[in-house]
Amino acid sequence: MTQVAEALRAGQYDQRVGPRGQGEFRLLGATIDRLADELTNRITTLDEQRAQLGAMVAGLQEGVFAVDDEDRLVFHNRAAQRLLGLSDDLDGSIWQAIAVPEIAELCRTTRASGKPAAQEIRLQRGDTTYVLDARATSFETHGQRGVVAVLHDVTNLRRLELMRTEFVANVSHELKTPLTSIRGYVETLLGGAIHDDANNLRFLGKIDQQVERLTAMVSDVLSLARIEATEGGRNGKINDWRQVIADVVEGYEEAGKLQRHTCKVETGDAPVRVRGDAESMTQVLDNLLDNAIKYTPGDGTITVRAYNRDGFAVLEVEDTGIGISAADRERIFERFFRADRARSRDTGGTGLGLAIVKHLTQGFGGEVRVDSELGRGTRFAVWSPIPDGAPTNAG
Ligand SMILES: Nc1ncnc2c1ncn2[C@@H]1O[C@H](COP(=O)(O)OP(=O)(O)OP(=O)(O)O)[C@@H](O)[C@H]1O
Ligand SMILES: [Mg+2]
Repeated sequence: MTQVAEALRAGQYDQRVGPRGQGEFRLLGATIDRLADELTNRITTLDEQRAQLGAMVAGLQEGVFAVDDEDRLVFHNRAAQRLLGLSDDLDGSIWQAIAVPEIAELCRTTRASGKPAAQEIRLQRGDTTYVLDARATSFETHGQRGVVAVLHDVTNLRRLELMRTEFVANVSHELKTPLTSIRGYVETLLGGAIHDDANNLRFLGKIDQQVERLTAMVSDVLSLARIEATEGGRNGKINDWRQVIADVVEGYEEAGKLQRHTCKVETGDAPVRVRGDAESMTQVLDNLLDNAIKYTPGDGTITVRAYNRDGFAVLEVEDTGIGISAADRERIFERFFRADRARSRDTGGTGLGLAIVKHLTQGFGGEVRVDSELGRGTRFAVWSPIPDGAPTNAG
């Protein structure tokens, strides 16, 4: 019995007394064995719980680390290691390894006040700046005191917020221009020009133009917002580019929108299928065709193609127009970007068309590509994966 009790004390929980001896000794032996069973159970449960907790914290997206009162690292998870660039073998003060004074300061404040504290911190890692939301809380367990900090990577969140602010600023700016001009004409008319038969109709015509521009802009902004909200309207329907092309081109011909341009349609016998709704596909083609016409002077040729290649369905709109410089090609998909502001202000563009095309194409699971040569022409191509189950005839 003494041997078993000693073994248990030393952590060998598999030792047992067994049924031995007589009377009281036998009872004591059984009690020791039950105690050993109980101990084994509790330790197993504790081990399991600790492993679970450990796995949970280790797998957290948030970086978690704890330091004791001597600033030694007592715990950290993988995310903390990644965010702070910690090395595996680390001894001594953690702040030598981390070198982010703000985080050290945050932990010190928390330790001194005993109250939780939070701060947003910018971190430079290579070329990227991370924005971290850091929160620190002090803790005390048996014999150990320290601070535990949680780091939440809010880089993307802040970037989106910035984009949104810029977007609102841009929209306001773009709306202001036509509004200022409308106001100017209205004031002139009110100031007496309404009786000036030589100009009054011309002024009204200008107002009408600007109102039309405003309307187009507002509807573009709204559809962009709608597309973003629904991620491009991914609804699982499958449609054929050839059908969309036929409908849109016919509409353009009937409305005389092609002006003096020649429009060639090149589609084969095989369906060119896309996982997307017909309305989104129509909007894509409509914007590309609108650009091709707008940015092609005189009588040019506009070619619309659809074909399958390498598992992708491709829609192409090619023109013989003014072309886009390499520098501008990088930016044309940004909202409100116009290559030549003065010129496209005449043509009434707001620079939202291609942003819409890009978003809708992402909704099809695809991407837009552009090839162009200044003065020669431009070709936009929308590549989207052929949906499962659709045949992939090349050509
Ligand atoms: N086919 C093209 N040829 C030459 N330049 C083009 C062509 N398509 C687009 N661009 C350039 O890219 C810019 C952005 O195009 P986008 O369609 O986004 O805007 P927009 O046509 O100016 O206005 P919106 O489409 O909102 O009426 C245009 O202003 C133009 O400078
Ligand atoms: Mg456009």
